[in-house]
Amino acid sequence: MSAKASDPQGRASPAPASAPTDKELVLKVIPMPADTNGNGDIFGGWVMAQVDLAGSVIPARIIRGRMATVAVNQFVFKQPVRVGDICSFFASVQRIGRTSVTVDVEVFTERFGAQGTFVKVTEACLTYVAIDENGKPTPVPR
Ligand SMILES: CC(C)(COP(=O)(O)OP(=O)(O)OC[C@H]1O[C@@H](n2cnc3c(N)ncnc32)[C@H](O)[C@@H]1OP(=O)(O)O)[C@@H](O)C(=O)NCCC(=O)NCCS
Repeated sequence: MSAKASDPQGRASPAPASAPTDKELVLKVIPMPADTNGNGDIFGGWVMAQVDLAGSVIPARIIRGRMATVAVNQFVFKQPVRVGDICSFFASVQRIGRTSVTVDVEVFTERFGAQGTFVKVTEACLTYVAIDENGKPTPVPR
């Protein structure tokens, strides 16, 4: 009989996932101890900030100018992120509108000591708007 895999706090580990093949790797980052919350896991606001940055990469290529995040349509923290995890952010375009680009972002970690095995920790959907010099929506270049 094999023991069930668990993390250092004794929590059951989810089955390993594969990195997505239908999305582009847009960011990799490793969180530090300064990014933790009271549980010792990584602060959700840190993850949200990285997702906002990662989500902006493909819209930036499409808009090629000033833009702003108008909405976080969905954000799910599926598993905690821990100090030392290698966090990989994958993104794909969900919709290009008249002035906006909406992207799906998935975050996977390679746990410290188990690098090479991916665990999905977060999924999100964000919308970015092309803005002019006055901060007003402007058409996405075609
Ligand atoms: C982004 C901003 C310029 C948009 O101005 P607005 O007058 O609200 O824009 P509009 O209502 O004309 O909508 C513009 C686009 O955003 C989309 N949008 C607006 N609100 C949305 C929402 N809640 N969810 C998803 N998309 C939304 C619209 O569908 C439209 O897209 P489309 O032209 O492709 O169809 C303005 O809301 C703003 O400056 N917000 C603050 C941005 C900010 O500070 N972000 C954080 C730091 S980057």
